[in-house]
Amino acid sequence: MVSSGVCLLVLASIQLALTAPTRRRQDSGSGGCSRSAPDLDDCVGNSIQQFVNFMASGKLSPKVAITPFDPLLLPNMTIRQETKGLTAVYVNRYLIGLKNSFVHDTSVNLDKREFSLTFLMPALELLGMYSAESFEDQADTENSILTISIRSSTAKFRALGDLYRAPSGAEHLRLNVTDVQLALGHYMINDLDHSTHIPRSNRHFNALPRAEFVRLIEADLRTQLGVRLQHIANEVLALAPYEKFFPV
Ligand SMILES: *[C@@H]1O[C@H](CO)[C@@H](O)[C@H](O)[C@H]1NC(C)=O
Ligand SMILES: *[C@@H]1O[C@H](CO)[C@@H](O)[C@H](O)[C@H]1NC(C)=O
Repeated sequence: MVSSGVCLLVLASIQLALTAPTRRRQDSGSGGCSRSAPDLDDCVGNSIQQFVNFMASGKLSPKVAITPFDPLLLPNMTIRQETKGLTAVYVNRYLIGLKNSFVHDTSVNLDKREFSLTFLMPALELLGMYSAESFEDQADTENSILTISIRSSTAKFRALGDLYRAPSGAEHLRLNVTDVQLALGHYMINDLDHSTHIPRSNRHFNALPRAEFVRLIEADLRTQLGVRLQHIANEVLALAPYEKFFPV
């Protein structure tokens, strides 16, 4: 009864919102996770798992859409390394593969409004356009489509919630991701030559050691996953009052 997905809950809430306000839903067990349920952690975990697997496009219903999370658009990144005089940009970046994540561990404390969630991410691809000034000739620019394939990563998110009153008068939950622990698994970097005649060995991209580059990418992903997924979670939570997600 309590394990139906957040996606179903959201759809049910939207249907509810579209019906006359006086009409009450009879079957309150069809959505949300009861606050007192002994398996609250599992219920929330299952709901998030359903959501992750089926709602990646962000289209929750014909009329309701949120930010898509697979592919997930990431902000442009600038890479500077003063000692080597390197400046590069990694732009129009997308992260692919979040929808195949497994919710591994969930813990919910509604009294303290503390949430923690661990995802296993079997295969992620980060792709974008990488450009750097040429090593030899400042006027020339290296451009390549840079793809980073990452296997078997885990991400643990901790979040604190607070309740706020929407214009409708209903109380909604909002999350603040306070901590992200990200461990990337094996990775493979592929840079497809695009528009440069510069020999590979003379290129800036190769001047930056791969391990160092991956550390920068990891730090950036940790930040971006926190910021972007917090934003998307709050878009979902804004769609229905707290008591619909967590009925008494
Ligand atoms: C990233 O940079 C590209 C090229 O400069 C630009 O077209 C794009 O709008 C930027 N994207 C974001 C999300 O800022
Ligand atoms: C989230 O919490 C951090 C402290 O952990 C705080 O600095 C930040 O302002 C909070 N952000 C929001 C949007 O409440």
